Parts: sequence; C-alpha cells; structure tokens
Amino acid sequence: MPRKILLGVSGCIAAYKACEMLREMQRRGCDVEVVMTANATRFVSPHTFSALSGRPALVDNFADGADPIPHIRMAEECDAFLVAPCTANVAAKIAAGIADDLLTTCALAAHDRLLVAPAMNVHMYESPATRQNLDALRARGVRVIEPGSGYLACGDTGKGRLADVSDIVSAALDPAVEAPLERLPLAGRKVMVTAGPTVEWLDPVRYVSNPSSGKMGFAVAKAARDAGADVTLVSGPVSLDDPDGVKVVRVNTASEMLEACEEHFDGCDIAVFAAAVSDYRPRMRSERKLKKGVDGESLACIEMVENPDILATLASRKAPGQFVVGFAAETDHVVEHAREKLQSKGADMVVANQVGEHKGFREDGNAAFLVSDRGSLELPYMPKDELAAKILEVACDNFKVC
Ligand code: C5P
Repeated sequence: MPRKILLGVSGCIAAYKACEMLREMQRRGCDVEVVMTANATRFVSPHTFSALSGRPALVDNFADGADPIPHIRMAEECDAFLVAPCTANVAAKIAAGIADDLLTTCALAAHDRLLVAPAMNVHMYESPATRQNLDALRARGVRVIEPGSGYLACGDTGKGRLADVSDIVSAALDPAVEAPLERLPLAGRKVMVTAGPTVEWLDPVRYVSNPSSGKMGFAVAKAARDAGADVTLVSGPVSLDDPDGVKVVRVNTASEMLEACEEHFDGCDIAVFAAAVSDYRPRMRSERKLKKGVDGESLACIEMVENPDILATLASRKAPGQFVVGFAAETDHVVEHAREKLQSKGADMVVANQVGEHKGFREDGNAAFLVSDRGSLELPYMPKDELAAKILEVACDNFKVC
C-alpha cells in the first residue's frame, strides 16, 4: 500500500515549494492529497495541485461535492498530515484548536499524525507568540520541522526559511510520525548533551582549542527532542543556531562546561557527552594581551594544567537508572581504546569513531562503533542526525530507559 500523505498548504510565499514537495513524495511512492487555506490559493492555484496530485485540491468545507464531510474522510485516510508551509497564523490556530476552515479542521481530526514545517519572516518566527505556539505543538507530539536561516523573501536575513524540501519529505515519510506523545520513546525523560569544543584562554586574544563543530552533539540534542525528551544542551563556542525546543547553555571553558553540567546532570535520565573538551588549559591566563618581545617567555613556552574530566566526574556520581554516553575520537585501535574508556570513565556506552583527514570533526556524517559491556555494534557511515537517532535508540533498547 502506498503511504498516504495529506499535504496542507497555507498562505505564504513558500507555497510554491509545496508543488516540489508533492512531486518528491510521489517519486518516493506516496499517494498525496492536498488541502489549502483560502490565502494559499492567492499564491498557487488549487488547479496546479489538482493537476499534480490527480485529485481535487480542497479548500472549502462546504463546497458542493461528492464528499459531505471531507475533513473526517481526509484525516481518516492519511498516514500523515503535513502542513507545509505552515504560517504563523495556521500554527497559532492549530495550537489553540481553532478549526475555522478545512485545513485547520483536518489538523484537529488528524492531530496524532501531524507535522508542520513553519515558514515566515524572522521577526514573526522569533515572536514570543509563535515560539509558544510551536512549543505547545511540540509538547503534544507534533513534529515541528525546524526552518532554516538565511535570506528571506521579505529581504530580512535570519531564521524562518522553509526547511529543505527533501528533509520535509523524509520527515513526512518517517513512520514515527504516527506516534502520539505518550508513544514517543523519551516522552517525560530528561536528556543532557554536551557539544562543541572548549576554549582555554592564554590572554584576551589567544586560546587553545580544537576543530569540533558541535554538529554531533547538536544532532543528538535534536534527536532526543524529537523523541519527546526535555533536553538541555551545554555547548562550547560553535557557529550553529540554538535548536528550537531545546534549552541551550553556552559556555567557553572546560571549567564553565563542568559547572553547567553539574547543574543539569542530577535528574537527567540520559547524559551524552559529545563535547571535545580541551584536556589541558594554560596555567596562567593573562588579563592583558601578551606582547611579542616583552612576554616572549610566556608565549614561547606555555605551561599547561589538566582540565577536569567532565564525563568521568559526573559518571562517578551516576544514580541508579541514569545512562551515560561518552565519545571517543581515536586515530587508531578505535574499539580497544573505546573499551578502555568505558571502564576508566565509568560510562555505560562509548561512541567510538576514527578521526583524521575528512573523518570525524566538522563532517556532516560519521561511521562509529557503539561500545558497551554487551559488545560493540558497528554503524556504517551515515549523516550525523541518523547516527544520533541510532545512539538514542540503542541507549533506550539496551538499558530500558523507556
Ligand atoms: O579522554 P577523551 O578526551 O578521549 O574522552 C572523550 C570523552 O570524554 C568525550 O565523551 C568527552 O566529551 C569527554 N571528556 C570530558 N572532559 C574532558 C575530556 C573529555 O567530558 N576533560
């Protein structure tokens, strides 16, 4: 049976991208029906969607047609209801349970299979009302596909661009969409994640650090959020935007990261330490810029002291039921080193990967071994968001967190 998707198009400039979405879903074997708001028809004609989908694109609950109660039939028939693009207005109506047209009525009737892909101006997106509405949807188990950042149709730059068509389609095709909140694997759970590098200052203009981009930790935080968890992400300095629906604590040094983690570790069910913490920091941090020639000795020979090991420190305080995941970036003997780290750090699982040129740091994907007392599971190269979901899946399965 082909997967049946109800595609809800609301009125914004990105409505034309719904045509591409429809086509992409058909290419991936889906049967697509379209419902539009009246405002969406000002951007793209329903005839376009009717022609592409091969069935009438509906707008009006009360139009004369063969179908006396279209919203119930449409909701019952679909495996997922994707609202894309979803305007601030439609998100607000869905959050409030308002059903004053066919699209929003369908959203109520198909609330347990609903995804929304917001698209709007950055200021509208960042307004407290929109934030609250999207948080309310997420808290109910609605999948909110995060918009991207960049140049917006209105000329502003910022967050609010409709996410990539292929990412939206992949989300709509994910069978996990049919999971109301109580069936999400981490519903009601707390997850803490560390990400990115730490920077260890020598003076106001120089520091010791590493090339971690934070992509892996951010992917784990988003995967945990999508699995229904209440997520705190403690991140070193990275250029990534705060993920929506995640509490983000930004830090610089290893000491600051430890302090933030100590505050959030108690009471979390899973802690994932994906940060590339600097193992050492300069013994002295000068308040003024050190000068070539004048401070030659301090610059040529930097005395270093060891940083606290955040993972080992917190794993030693683990309460029963808490599950701790560490990472091991190795250049050689990857699994052996990971096994040692499992013991020495007191983690329940270590995600081990090879680092080197074009491997590990900064890349969008990775291959890894998940090493625990139960053995090691080899995962082939995959995008970091898929790897993140796998890590959480194994954590849940192995240790009955859920
Ligand atoms: O010892 P190594 O740095 O290779 O271990 C990596 C793991 O330990 C990662 O999970 C990293 O986040 C964590 N770590 C830490 N604090 C440190 C060093 C590493 O939490 N000071």
